[in-house]
Amino acid sequence: MERDSAWNPGIYGGSVEFERFYVSSALHDDEIVVDLGNRSYSVYVGNGLAADVHSVIPDDVGKIAVVTQRNIGIRPTLTIPHKIFNIEDGEQTKSLGTIAELCSNFAAMGMNRRDLVLAIGGGIVSDTAGFAAASFHRGIRYGIIATTLLAQVDAAIGGKTGVNIPEGKNLVGAFWQPSFVLCDLTALKSLPPRELLCGQGEMAKYAFLGAEGLDKMPLSAQVSACVRIKAKYVEADEREGDRRALLNYGHTLAHALEAVGFEDPRLDLKHGEAVAIGLIYAALLAKRLGRIGQDRVDYHYRVVESYGLPTSLPVPIEPDRLIDSMFKDKKSFGTLTFVLDSRSGVEVVRDVDVALVKEVLSELSQ
Ligand SMILES: NC(=O)c1ccc[n+]([C@@H]2O[C@H](COP(=O)([O-])OP(=O)(O)OC[C@H]3O[C@@H](n4cnc5c(N)ncnc54)[C@H](O)[C@@H]3O)[C@@H](O)[C@H]2O)c1
Repeated sequence: MERDSAWNPGIYGGSVEFERFYVSSALHDDEIVVDLGNRSYSVYVGNGLAADVHSVIPDDVGKIAVVTQRNIGIRPTLTIPHKIFNIEDGEQTKSLGTIAELCSNFAAMGMNRRDLVLAIGGGIVSDTAGFAAASFHRGIRYGIIATTLLAQVDAAIGGKTGVNIPEGKNLVGAFWQPSFVLCDLTALKSLPPRELLCGQGEMAKYAFLGAEGLDKMPLSAQVSACVRIKAKYVEADEREGDRRALLNYGHTLAHALEAVGFEDPRLDLKHGEAVAIGLIYAALLAKRLGRIGQDRVDYHYRVVESYGLPTSLPVPIEPDRLIDSMFKDKKSFGTLTFVLDSRSGVEVVRDVDVALVKEVLSELSQ
């Protein structure tokens, strides 16, 4: 990777350009700039990028806190003083307790606003490390080496950081953009097959947000296409006022399933699997509301099934438990709100009738 000295470093100034680095074409297949003024950053997609992370670390960084997990075998050589913090696996670790622990460790290292948090991992690591970076000293820089497909096509892009609380998923967090994202496709080689499938759950979502024919592209192009779409939504609506909420297609039910799954071990669903079921549910609901026809519902089934992802609930779940959880969704505002398909694309739909939501949930159990 090479630095471009024409770009003026600095993320705190109001009008300065973002610090930008170039990866030589031999090292990356694509660079997508998430264009957010002085909070802009590059997302690189390619093989073996992690080994070259030092090239994207800003010159003035004095210390690095690496946040990762033990089972992720990616430990790039860092010449800057650093410490490695392994967080536990799973949604339970995405908690305020972990944030407190990480921030204490950052303080013990003497980290300041010039330093960097480096997240190496999937969405759990990037959401948690990102929120710790957003909170410590009211915000220090962080970069991400995204090591799961789900993180590469979604979680690592867009600066949504946060943790779960017992009342719901991702209920506490901050918008805090990373300084760089490396989508290292080599990392995916060690990813368990079920985790790869989960990434495809988020990829399936993009099929309804403008990415046609993903399944016919090489993996690198698929990741790039998803990043490019996500970047456009983030640029149009960084803080999820309206348009960015469309990226939550399939997520109202998915988050409810995950929240119920916290308490009910019978519901063993990972995020991407929950999204896949959520996409089917959203299609069934949209059809009942007269927004789409059966052909479009069939298309949802085709896309989700083409990845081998689930299309129905794995065990019967009391609809009221899911509905209670849906009311806690951040899009809810006291009524049931969904992102739903229509003949002109997906839209946020508020005030969906609770009885109908319940009825369609029972269709999903069959
Ligand atoms: N911030 C956002 O915009 C956003 C978007 C979508 C999802 N998310 C969040 O992302 C999380 C899910 O992320 P995920 O699916 O990446 O799960 P994850 O982070 O739990 O990773 C899945 C598993 O794979 C392991 N792993 C990661 N990289 C590996 C590698 N290269 N080789 C071997 N093992 C590896 C992890 O240790 C973990 O066990 C959820 O909490 C979800 O809410 C956030």
